[in-house]
Amino acid sequence: MTHSIVFGGTKGLGRVVVRLFAQRGDAVSVISRSVPGVADQVPGASYRAADIADAAATQAALDAAVAAAGAPSYVVFCQRYRGKDDPWAGEIEVSLSASRRVVDALQGKFAKGSDCGIVFVSSVFGDRIGEGQPLSYHLGKAGMNHMARYYAVSLGREGVRSNAVTPFTFLKDESKEFYLGNKTLLGLYEEIIPLGRMATAEDSANVIAFLCSPAAGFVNGQNIYVDGGLSLVWPETLARKLKGQ
Ligand SMILES: NC(=O)c1ccc[n+]([C@@H]2O[C@H](COP(=O)([O-])OP(=O)(O)OC[C@H]3O[C@@H](n4cnc5c(N)ncnc54)[C@H](OP(=O)(O)O)[C@@H]3O)[C@@H](O)[C@H]2O)c1
Repeated sequence: MTHSIVFGGTKGLGRVVVRLFAQRGDAVSVISRSVPGVADQVPGASYRAADIADAAATQAALDAAVAAAGAPSYVVFCQRYRGKDDPWAGEIEVSLSASRRVVDALQGKFAKGSDCGIVFVSSVFGDRIGEGQPLSYHLGKAGMNHMARYYAVSLGREGVRSNAVTPFTFLKDESKEFYLGNKTLLGLYEEIIPLGRMATAEDSANVIAFLCSPAAGFVNGQNIYVDGGLSLVWPETLARKLKGQ
């Protein structure tokens, strides 16, 4: 059975990825700081608590997951720093150093003879500069984009593909009420996004599930934008449209 490991699979996008993996029949291991109550767990998934910034706890969770479900085929990094300490140290640790430790620990230990891959969940702030997130978030995501490319080359001959997914702001269970209740903001998104609607967590989860499947068997080192085409629109065009000029 295909074993897929999702870091940060208890909330938001990660939870939807876990649901898709479980629905297609994967053995799914979820590693996050906390284990949700049974009612919030995806049936069939196995949950282990570890802060990815804690190297020993993460290694123990990985070892237990591999002992229970076998060598992994797919690993998804969906975690994001949500701590209360220094955001610089936290973001660099949780996005970059910890992800590198996990990939290094799994080198040579991915499932043999089947399609294998890693997906780093990035952000438009990995390529662009935007308000509302600190420099550390921008650098963490930019670093993840390049990690995806680095591992695409260095792990390619081990049969492990590596890619990034860049979601644009999406509706998730935790934020739906806010966005759907704010007609002005919702209308703004509908106006600026070429597909005329806001993204959902499912939009990005579907792309992650594709990248974590044999159907993407020759896709390596890419960063797939899931933004409805917004990143293609020239900012001047957007500004004129919004100002009616
Ligand atoms: N939300 C958006 O609109 C948006 C847009 C673009 C990109 N993204 C990216 O998409 C990814 C998912 O976003 P989201 O909004 O769905 O995130 P979220 O709801 O905040 O969920 C984050 C997940 O990471 C886990 N986590 C946080 N810190 C961790 C740590 N130190 N060690 C292990 N697990 C940890 C959380 O579980 P615990 O709390 O139990 O640890 C949770 O499962 C993130 O990488 C984010 O940067 C999000």
